[in-house]
Amino acid sequence: MIVIQAKDYDEMSLKAYEAMKKVLTEKPDAVLGLATGSTPVGLYKLMIEDYKRGLVSYKRMTSINLDEYVGLPVTHPESYRSFMNRNLFDHIDIDIANTHVPDGLAEDLEKSAAAYTAFAAAHPIDVQILGIGANGHIGFNEPGTPFDSHTHVVELKEGTRRDNARFFDNDINKVPTHAVTLGLKDIMNAKFIILLASGSGKADAVKKMIKGTVDESCPASVLQTHPNVLVVADEAAAYYLN
Ligand code: F6R
Repeated sequence: MIVIQAKDYDEMSLKAYEAMKKVLTEKPDAVLGLATGSTPVGLYKLMIEDYKRGLVSYKRMTSINLDEYVGLPVTHPESYRSFMNRNLFDHIDIDIANTHVPDGLAEDLEKSAAAYTAFAAAHPIDVQILGIGANGHIGFNEPGTPFDSHTHVVELKEGTRRDNARFFDNDINKVPTHAVTLGLKDIMNAKFIILLASGSGKADAVKKMIKGTVDESCPASVLQTHPNVLVVADEAAAYYLN
């Protein structure tokens, strides 16, 4: 695991993009593992800027997103499908048919989750972007999720719903209670993982991820066992590392 400390959010985004850009330019048909939330938005802006400058094309790329809320219409502005369209896909030349987000509205969620894992297994992720939850979750794999998990339905922890209430008029009751997430085993299949962390709210989780024991109480700690992980944390998120 390589850890880069950045001074602030913008530098974190830039350092992460520099690492990702190597894959984007070397592999025109790359499979990108993507995340939602506040953390990767700066990185996505840099991807868009370089696309607009003609430096990268996403025409032949495929994307696989980590997660989606259960029961939220895809047209809802806070569905992760809407988020991805708004923050990235609408601004680059990726074929929308090649962008994949778990189906939180499937009639048979288990079956749809199994199909998502099968799709990911058939399209190995070249670079996986991750954020981290204050409780150490990656994707929506909350503490206690088995390391050998595949795509599954998860009941979100109250703290996670509270953290995400900022996107739902600060009303926790509007935050869905469940989500579908790629499992930890699926995430660990990625060839290269870049985890971004910003802000003091992530400092404890970052410390446990990097310096804590590898166990299911901190899902991100599993990354210690992956051969190719880059963590980019800004000063506040890296606070307990020094
Ligand atoms: C999002 C995801 C989550 C977030 C995490 C941090 O697709 O899988 O693990 O990365 O909850 O969210 P932010 O970036 O909003 O702090």
